[in-house]
Amino acid sequence: MSKKFTLGSDRSSALSLLPEKAIRKVQLGDDLICLTRIGEKIFAFQHLCPHQSASLVDGKINSFDEIICPLHHYRFDLHTGDLRSGDNCPDLKVYQSELSDEGITIFI
Ligand code: FES
Repeated sequence: MSKKFTLGSDRSSALSLLPEKAIRKVQLGDDLICLTRIGEKIFAFQHLCPHQSASLVDGKINSFDEIICPLHHYRFDLHTGDLRSGDNCPDLKVYQSELSDEGITIFI
């Protein structure tokens, strides 16, 4: 069963916590994850790259809703976690998340 976490207290505080395409590292219970935002879409994903464990907080978000790892530049789809470029690498773990009038909700 997943656990629900909420960040911020309303939509505007949540938007200011997470500027567009910024990547933030957040500890939620026992899990350290990364968050980013494109418009009003929130994406939550594992902190360490599934290839060789680089910190994805130093990655970049491109215009195809992908995270690019800073170390070997593998790309992962933020919606599904699918590996889009790179070899011999598991998909990225992604978590359900949403922006609402209560803030950012993440299910781990
Ligand atoms: S550690 Fe991320 S692509 Fe190699």
